[in-house]
Amino acid sequence: LSSYPSYIDLLPAIQTCNITNLPENYFLKYYLYHALTWPQLSFVAVVRPRGGYKTATAGGPGAAGDVSGQYPKVVGYVLAKMEEEPSDGVQHGHITSLSVMRTHRRLGIAERLMRMSQRAMSESHRAHYVSLHVRMSNTAALRLYRDTLGFEVEKIESKYYADGEDAYAMHLNLQDQW
Ligand code: ACO
Repeated sequence: LSSYPSYIDLLPAIQTCNITNLPENYFLKYYLYHALTWPQLSFVAVVRPRGGYKTATAGGPGAAGDVSGQYPKVVGYVLAKMEEEPSDGVQHGHITSLSVMRTHRRLGIAERLMRMSQRAMSESHRAHYVSLHVRMSNTAALRLYRDTLGFEVEKIESKYYADGEDAYAMHLNLQDQW
């Protein structure tokens, strides 16, 4: 038995991070479904008691563990999946949710989480592209997706969010990236 917490042990803390940072929230079983179905695609950023960051994937046993036996603090996550029934018939990934705690923003954590997930989609699932939705008012996330990562706006989805805000549907071609 290992005293290291696994990715699945961290799911409640990942859910708390999501609730803290975004109004779009999910039942714990939806996080578990992602972790069990596409274990390569979701990543978490944690702070260990002695400092420094470590990323873990659902596929790596104990990968998020800290050596002191204390639980690491979750400061960011990306929850990702493969589209199960793609309407265009093209195998592609989808970012369900991404967030980083305020205390740890502008350190490159979100960019790193996204790049790790994108790479895994391409290598593990032969994803042709990755898609996501983002609020039109979310300038920080838009800058990250469009300017840093190279996503393009595919279309506007009217009233996509529960409060009536429109979304940009964005995608990034993953072919020829690696
Ligand atoms: N203003 C302008 N540009 C920004 C900002 C900001 N506040 N934050 C990030 N960026 C851009 C910059 O270009 C930045 O590069 P730079 O720091 O060299 O200028 C680049 O993105 C990379 O930034 P990171 O440090 O990797 O981003 P961070 O770890 O701070 O996380 C995030 C960005 C996830 C948007 C964070 O602000 C957050 O959690 N926001 C609340 C939750 C949220 O909006 N999540 C996305 C919803 S959409 C979805 O989930 C599919």
